[in-house]
Amino acid sequence: MDSVQGRPAPTLPFRDTPRHYGRITRLLHWTMALLILWQFLGMGLRLLLGRDSMAAFFVRLHQPIGTVLFVLIALRIVWALANRRNRPAHGAGPVGVASRLGHMALYLLMLIVPGVALLRAWGSERAFAPFGFQIFPAREAAIEWTGTLAGALHGELAWVMGVLILGHVVMVGVHQAMWRDGTLARMAGRRSS
Ligand code: HEM
Repeated sequence: MDSVQGRPAPTLPFRDTPRHYGRITRLLHWTMALLILWQFLGMGLRLLLGRDSMAAFFVRLHQPIGTVLFVLIALRIVWALANRRNRPAHGAGPVGVASRLGHMALYLLMLIVPGVALLRAWGSERAFAPFGFQIFPAREAAIEWTGTLAGALHGELAWVMGVLILGHVVMVGVHQAMWRDGTLARMAGRRSS
């Protein structure tokens, strides 16, 4: 039994609280972090080493994993809205405003980046069947604008999202190492009260 001075450690609730993110938010956050890492690792390796390298191992699953990420971000937005009055605050002042805007931009990009790629898959002549489950059947003729839109936005916005994620990770490091305000513990630590 985990205990603090003989008292059992309080279990983490499913819902968020003003001091900590709950189990559902954490499950969504860390699953998405892993899958997003997979996406960028694959595309980064493809850029550096070319298609016929070890990048192929990651890129093979790019579309199915991207589809899962789209579903997870939709669930995450619904869950964040359901908990909006009862979750850790971003803080006051310019840092709080920057944090709120940064998170909003991340949510938006996490929706748009896979969203436009799925739109292209919907408008494509080829059937789209991630993990073997057909979502969009084949068409007789492709819808051109869906391909143009995704061609213009998907890759570019994905890299912008990658930079924002890097900024997010760096800021967590700053909170931990310099400000020591327990920000990481809200998403990763045990419940303290
Ligand atoms: C959050 C999810 C996703 C992320 C972070 C992501 C990220 C990326 C990145 C970084 C690239 C490389 C762009 C370049 O070459 O400069 C890329 C390319 C690509 N992605 Fe995704 N992607 C995601 C979801 C999807 C989904 C759902 C699909 C398909 C349904 C998809 C299909 C493609 C395709 C076909 C390419 C190569 C052609 C292109 O750049 O448009 N991606 N993605």
